[in-house]
Amino acid sequence: MTDFRKSTVYQIYPKSFYDTNGDGLGDLRGITRKLDYIKELGADYIWMTPFFVSPQNDNGYDVEDYYNIDPRYGTMEDFEELSREAEKRGIRLMLDMVFNHTSSHSQWFQKALAGDEKYKNYYIFKKGKENGEPPTNWESKFGGSAWEYVPQFDEYYLHLFDVSQPDLNWDNPEVRKEVQNVVKFWMGKGVKAFRFDVVNLISKGEFRDDETGDGRKFYTDGPNIHKYLQELNAESFGQDAEIITVGEMSSTTMENCFQYASGDGKELSMVFSFHHLKVDFMGNEKWVLVPADFGKLKQILFDWQTGMAEHNAWNALFWCNHDQPRVVSRFGEEGKYWKESAKMLATVIHCLRGTPYVYQGEELGMTNAGFTDISQYRDVESINHFRILQDKGLSESDAYRILQIHSRDNSRTPMQWTGEENGGFTTGTPWISVNPNAETINAEEELAQEDSIFHHYQKLIQMRKDYDVIAYGDITPLERKHPQLFAYKREYQGETLLVINNFYGREMTWECTENLKGFTCILSNYPDSKAEQTMKLRPYESLVLYRK
Ligand code: GLC
Ligand code: CA
Repeated sequence: MTDFRKSTVYQIYPKSFYDTNGDGLGDLRGITRKLDYIKELGADYIWMTPFFVSPQNDNGYDVEDYYNIDPRYGTMEDFEELSREAEKRGIRLMLDMVFNHTSSHSQWFQKALAGDEKYKNYYIFKKGKENGEPPTNWESKFGGSAWEYVPQFDEYYLHLFDVSQPDLNWDNPEVRKEVQNVVKFWMGKGVKAFRFDVVNLISKGEFRDDETGDGRKFYTDGPNIHKYLQELNAESFGQDAEIITVGEMSSTTMENCFQYASGDGKELSMVFSFHHLKVDFMGNEKWVLVPADFGKLKQILFDWQTGMAEHNAWNALFWCNHDQPRVVSRFGEEGKYWKESAKMLATVIHCLRGTPYVYQGEELGMTNAGFTDISQYRDVESINHFRILQDKGLSESDAYRILQIHSRDNSRTPMQWTGEENGGFTTGTPWISVNPNAETINAEEELAQEDSIFHHYQKLIQMRKDYDVIAYGDITPLERKHPQLFAYKREYQGETLLVINNFYGREMTWECTENLKGFTCILSNYPDSKAEQTMKLRPYESLVLYRK
C-alpha cells in the first residue's frame, strides 16, 4: 500500500497538459503519452482536474454528467487505458469530485427548472425578500450576487460560484445518496484517490444577510459538515482502506481541519487550506495589488504545521494549483535568480510535514502568463473581475495590472514541453496562449540539464521516500520573527533535518542557532553550499542539512 506521507501528488490540468489530436485542447491520451515523464519525476499520484461532461464554463468544475467523460477529453476507453498504463508504472489516479454544485446543464437541474419537485429539492431555491431583493446579500465567489432569479417560480437559486453552477442541497438525503453513487462508480473503475472540490461549503447554515461580509460565515464549515463527510466516507471511499482523499477547504479554520484530516480516518486523509496564499490579498479581497507579507506567510505556514501536528492531522503542502498564480513569479523571481528562487521555494514546501503537490510546469519553473489583452484571458472569474474592477472606477490599465498578478489563467497556460512552436503542446491552435518563454523554459531542456529545477524536484520527491524524518518527523520552526530567513527543524527517532532558506534576493549572514556538528548538506541550490556555524547565505540560497 502506498503511504501517503511518503508520496507526492502531481496535479494535471488536462486541458493544458498535452494535446494528441491537434484540436488545441489537452486530452486523456495526452496524459497517457506523458506518463513516463511523470514517472521520471517520481510522483506517486496524478490528480486530474475534472474531465467529465461539462459545458466548460468553469473548465469542467461545472459538471453536467458525473458518469461520462467529456468528448473533448476523450472516451471511457481512453480513461481505462490511462488507468492501466498508470498502474503499470506504479502511479495512481486521483479524481476531482465537484459536489458542492453541478452545472446548470445537469439533468437534475434541468428537471428542477421544469418544475419537478424531486429535483427542485436537489438544489437551493428560496423566495426573495419582500422588497424585491434576493433572499440574502451573499456574493458569488466569481463576482455579483450569489442568487439567480427564476421567473417561472418567482424564486431564486443559490450559486456560490458562477450562475451556471447551482449549489446542491446536501440537506436532502437523496442528494447525498447520488453523490455516494458517483464515488462508488469511480471506485469500481479502480480509482484509489479522490479530491473533493470546495467540500467544506456543502453544509449551508442560516440563510441570513451578512452585515459584515460576503456571506461566507453562513456556509463555510457549516453545521452538518462533519456529519456529511463522515457519512460519505462510511458509505463510499472509507470502505477501501487503500483510498486516499483530500478536501479543498475554502476559508476554513484549523480547528475544523483537525477533524477533517484527523488520523482516525473518519473523514478525509488530508486538506488543502489557503490562508498562506492570501498574504498578497487585502483580507479576503484578492483583486488588489498588495506586496506579499513574508512575516504573515511564515506565521501561517508554521501555525498550521505545528497545530496540525499536535492534533495528529495531515496537511496537503502546496504553492501552486490551477487557481493560483505561478509561485516563482509570486514569491521568487523570474529574472536573474529564476532557477535559485524556484528551487528554494520547492525546498521550503517539500520538507514540511504533509503531502506535497506539484502542479504541472511548477517543476520546470514555469512563470505567470504575461497576458496584456483581455482577449487572451479565458477564466470566467478573471473576465468578470476585469469588468467589476472598472465598474468600481479603476482604470483599464490598473485592472490589467491586477489581472496579471492574480488571474487564475496565470497557471493555465499550456505545459511547456519543448522549445518548438506552441511549446510542443499542440500542433493546432492552443485554447489559451502559450507563454513565449517556452523557448527557454521547457521540459526537454530541463531533462537534459543536470542542475535543472526539474531535477531539484525529482530529488525532493525521492528524499521524502528515503528519509523517514521528512515523512514522519516533528517540526520546530526556527527564527520565527526573522525578516528574511525561512528555517525549520524536523526530528524523528534520532534523525534531524535542518531546512534553511534565504527567502530573498539579498545576501544575508546568519548565526545558526543549532549546533551543526555532525550535519551534512544533502541538498542545496548552489553547487558549493556548506554547513557552517556562521552562514553566509547567497540570494535565495537554500540548504537541507541532515544528521543521524
Ligand atoms: C475550486 C476549484 C476551482 C473552481 C471552484 C468551483 O475552487 O479549484 O477551479 O472554479 O472550486 O468549482
Ligand atoms: Ca485534444
